[in-house]
Amino acid sequence: MATIIDGKALSEKIRAEVAEEIARSALKPHLAVVLVGDDPASHTYVGMKEKACRAAGVLSSVHKLNLDVTQAELMALIADLNHDEFVHGILVQLPLPRHLDQMAVFGAIRPEKDVDGFHPQNVGLLNLGLPGALVPCTPAGVMEMLKSISYTLKGKHVVVVGRSNVVGKPMSTLALLAGATVTITHRYTENLAVYTRQADVLIVAVGKRDLITADMVKPGAVVIDVGTNKVGNKLVGDVDFAGLQEVASHLTPVPGGVGPMTIALLIKNTLQAAKMQHG
Ligand code: GUN
Repeated sequence: MATIIDGKALSEKIRAEVAEEIARSALKPHLAVVLVGDDPASHTYVGMKEKACRAAGVLSSVHKLNLDVTQAELMALIADLNHDEFVHGILVQLPLPRHLDQMAVFGAIRPEKDVDGFHPQNVGLLNLGLPGALVPCTPAGVMEMLKSISYTLKGKHVVVVGRSNVVGKPMSTLALLAGATVTITHRYTENLAVYTRQADVLIVAVGKRDLITADMVKPGAVVIDVGTNKVGNKLVGDVDFAGLQEVASHLTPVPGGVGPMTIALLIKNTLQAAKMQHG
């Protein structure tokens, strides 16, 4: 029977550590969240982020923009937030409406305030293994989960399913930097199971329910489920959780796995951003 990695408990521990550091310091970290349109899931996530900020002693402000906001208006808001010395972190909630150029928006955020780690400078620093990068929250949270079970990636085969800029690519980079052999698979991969069955650590971030079944996993593998799929009003991941319990050594649940970790790492990144800006 697989051991369940409790992301909720681990995220609370990390959030408490950040809260303690903020309480001990003279810093007043402030996260500005930009929310465009009325996507209900995005509103829910932003609400959770605000609540987590409050609990940790991080100030937060939410800038709600109409669905039909222009690129120029959004860029003007980013410029204001870049110049506001009381704002340390800027997060533009995804997905953005199609008429907006996401890459231009993330490229406009001051890298030191880019708590998502999506700015090309942060992506570059991370890829080169250089210090000073703000690291994307979800993959950073997955690394914390592996650390919590004292898992050493060096020499292990990590298979990542999904190649997004938000999860798959930075996740692969972090695993590579930790000394793993990394295989990245994605929607065009032929014979996916051939790769997933070789994984010592299987990280799945696709958004497709039951994509990974027990026959696709090596016995004893660590399986990290980053997927979130709505089934009715229930949330499920990308893996067949019940089936994998018999095969995996460790498994993350959905909900209560990677999701809370992402928020904890966002709070941690906001503190890091505030520290970088105050020298
Ligand atoms: N939407 C889903 N995941 C994320 C994330 O990590 N960052 C942002 N900004 N939006 C998201």
